[in-house]
Amino acid sequence: MSRVAVVTGGIGGLGTAMCKALAEQGRQPVAVDYNGLSAEAVDKWKAARQAEGLDIPVYLADVTSFESCAEVCKKIEAEVGPIEILVNNAGITRDSMFHKMTPEQWDQVIKTNLYSLFNMTKQVYEGMVARGWGRIINIASVNGLRGQAGQSNYSATKSAVYGFNKALAQECVKKGVTVNSISPGYIGTEMVRAIREDVLQKVIAGIPANRLGEPSEIARTVTFLAADDAGYITGEDITVNGGLYYH
Ligand code: CAA
Repeated sequence: MSRVAVVTGGIGGLGTAMCKALAEQGRQPVAVDYNGLSAEAVDKWKAARQAEGLDIPVYLADVTSFESCAEVCKKIEAEVGPIEILVNNAGITRDSMFHKMTPEQWDQVIKTNLYSLFNMTKQVYEGMVARGWGRIINIASVNGLRGQAGQSNYSATKSAVYGFNKALAQECVKKGVTVNSISPGYIGTEMVRAIREDVLQKVIAGIPANRLGEPSEIARTVTFLAADDAGYITGEDITVNGGLYYH
């Protein structure tokens, strides 16, 4: 049976590419996305995948809620199978210079990007350890590595990923479970295209590759870390950013 791979934010720009790449790798992808999404948006996404010959189940949850994550993971395990690969990809931005940042902008980003790591990982971790195999892949950001003006909330959550990974990696590598992250640069998704046009043009001009990245370039790195023979890589971060910043 194919290993079940849950991707949070699974129907978004990066998530879609990840689901498709995991399917190509022979995994059974499952997209988990925000329970505020309309049934229409979900059906449209499923139909687009079906047109590509892919049958990818979609489950809705709120990754800021521990209970909601517990419920959705239980349902997936009952209906699809044990979750062996988890990609914590769900994330949001609420960009603002710090002097203008509201407590709500801080709170929403911390809860969605950081609490979700605990809320989702906690549901699947013990099963992975008990079965002796698991891949936890967390999506960080170049802006967690270098910091970005206007993103003190987002950069804080993305830097936190590295600490989480390095600590948890030590706890479970003996049990066959790896914990790694990917730090994408500016990828051509809705999140990046929402940046004010003049600001975005300056960002692109500063990228040595002189272009935005493709979602497939992040998805490819997910499948690399999710591979059966990637079990000796753990606590590591891979940057995929067109040369914008190095570790
Ligand atoms: N460094 C230092 N100062 C900067 C700066 C920078 N990079 N960018 C702007 N400033 C300064 C400006 O010069 C300006 O100074 P003055 O007031 O003295 O003129 C001041 O900060 C205000 O700048 P803005 O006019 O841009 O302020 P704003 O309130 O209109 O917009 C903002 C603020 C929404 C944060 C906007 O600057 C912005 O969108 N910046 C880009 C943030 C960014 O890169 N976000 C990434 C989103 S994609 C993502 O997050 C995915 C990923 O993982 C990479």
